[in-house]
Amino acid sequence: MQSLAVRECDQGDFEEVAQLGERCYLNASHNRPESMFDRKRAYQPGLFLIGELECRVVSTVMAGYEGRRGWINLLAVDPDYRRLGLGRAMMVAAHERLAALGCPKVNLQIRVWNSDAVAFYERLGYSLDLCYSMGKSIEPSTQE
Ligand SMILES: CC(C)(COP(=O)(O)OP(=O)(O)OC[C@H]1O[C@@H](n2cnc3c(N)ncnc32)[C@H](O)[C@@H]1OP(=O)(O)O)[C@@H](O)C(=O)NCCC(=O)NCCS
Repeated sequence: MQSLAVRECDQGDFEEVAQLGERCYLNASHNRPESMFDRKRAYQPGLFLIGELECRVVSTVMAGYEGRRGWINLLAVDPDYRRLGLGRAMMVAAHERLAALGCPKVNLQIRVWNSDAVAFYERLGYSLDLCYSMGKSIEPSTQE
């Protein structure tokens, strides 16, 4: 298999990224892919990464840094290419970019039903932080 090419996501990648989200169940009804894509392209776009194999988008990760912690969102690998190290490669790429910004620690949230993701992140050295994860929409039309 060709090696994964990781690069910053750009405007022309939207359709493929949205399709990958559909295949990976990331496009929940309240997570409108257009709005997520546009917001991230406008803010810290260098932390929104895609992975390509033979010019086809097979993986994504959206990282962020607010000055204290780094955050990971939308990590996804095409179901046809799982368990080949691509998820790990996307996380390494995100960690490298966050570290270059001076970020000391990375946090992430996992849906309670997603035990596969828990197992994956544990393999990468993540462990449970005993915290409540709470959220509140501050834009009336969104639940993101
Ligand atoms: C989670 C996900 C990104 C993992 O991608 P992947 O490319 O299959 O993972 P990798 O091949 O890089 O695996 C890295 C390590 O995790 C382990 N791993 C991956 N998936 C696993 C699973 N379901 N159960 C147990 N271990 C798993 C691998 O065996 C590997 O371990 P090793 O390096 O010690 O051999 C992928 O399953 C996915 O896209 N899931 C749907 C979207 C999702 O849930 N994203 C996370 C949202 S929080």
